[in-house]
Amino acid sequence: MFRTAIIGLGTIAAIHLDAIRGLEGIEIVAVCDIQPERHALAPDLPFYRDARELLDDSRLALDAIHICLPHDAHLPVARLALERGIAVFTEKPVTATLAEAEELVALAEAPGARVAVCFQNRLNPCSQALLAAIRAGGHGRLLGLRGQVAWHRTSEYYAQAPWRGRMERAGSGTLINQAIHTLDLLQLAAGSEPVTITGLVTQLQDLGPDVDVEDTAVARIVFANGATGFFMSTNANALNEDVELVVHFEKTRFTIRGGRLLQLSDGVETRIAEDVRRSGAKFYYGAAHQDMIRAFYDWLGGDAAAPIVTAREALVTVRLIDRILASSRRGAAPVAY
Ligand SMILES: NC(=O)c1ccc[n+]([C@@H]2O[C@H](COP(=O)([O-])OP(=O)(O)OC[C@H]3O[C@@H](n4cnc5c(N)ncnc54)[C@H](O)[C@@H]3O)[C@@H](O)[C@H]2O)c1
Repeated sequence: MFRTAIIGLGTIAAIHLDAIRGLEGIEIVAVCDIQPERHALAPDLPFYRDARELLDDSRLALDAIHICLPHDAHLPVARLALERGIAVFTEKPVTATLAEAEELVALAEAPGARVAVCFQNRLNPCSQALLAAIRAGGHGRLLGLRGQVAWHRTSEYYAQAPWRGRMERAGSGTLINQAIHTLDLLQLAAGSEPVTITGLVTQLQDLGPDVDVEDTAVARIVFANGATGFFMSTNANALNEDVELVVHFEKTRFTIRGGRLLQLSDGVETRIAEDVRRSGAKFYYGAAHQDMIRAFYDWLGGDAAAPIVTAREALVTVRLIDRILASSRRGAAPVAY
């Protein structure tokens, strides 16, 4: 039986609680939040207001923690856990900034350390089928990719959790909070290292003085294999529309849209995969949190050779976002990855 704790009891923690409770072999032995009223999410469990106190409590005999915290708290809490030999399952992004991500990768790769990052959309049936079809080959040269996330977030969303609106706490806005999963899939589908990035970010909505993160971003990523990725994400759309990812090869075009993967070959488009909608989980978070958590504990138990997403793999999207922001600051000048 693995003994675990959830640190941060906000929006995403509810998904972790439900997911863990549906799995065998994992016991949640404590929860933690700096806001005491958040204990209401799991009133039956021992509550700590301070992560360090929880991690120092040897009676808990923790094997792992789940980090469901604002982005700037990922590294400090992960560091405390790793110093105590406790494994870390952290929500995306791995950290708020590139410098922090580099530090966490070094900690994660030290002997005996265990860190995995929650990019659950990698486990969606459509993502899996897309990556498998790309690996199978036979589609000709990769020409380009397009990722698009057009969602809706108002100032109320930021008022609920003010850290989300602050660059210094979140690291970015739509890119790091909403679109990172699609950016991750785009770079995975490209199957090649990014080389040059140009990007522009801005705020199209007036979200008030407390929100300084971008609500809209466009970027072009040139990959080492010559393919280009065009990426667009916004929180200024009228509603949450289906995420779209298009991967163009010479002979085949793959499209993920609305939880369906379509393959266009020889002028005929066929559906080759469909995501499963699970009740209880906001679908746009992805339905695969539980599978991701199961895989993490399989790895801890020695049943898997590696976690699905290591800290090093998760650093890629943080670096891409860092580069998009850097390019934007220079008026969309090309910057090296
Ligand atoms: N995988 C996904 O699809 C997905 C979806 C939503 C959010 N997330 C990620 O989950 C994380 C949390 O996001 P959220 O929307 O749930 O945030 P939230 O603001 O709703 O919840 C965060 C909680 O952490 C608590 N907290 C802050 N600092 C703390 C500290 N030092 N110690 C203990 N508790 C502390 C806050 O009081 C709050 O209750 C972020 O990394 C976010 O990007 C991932």
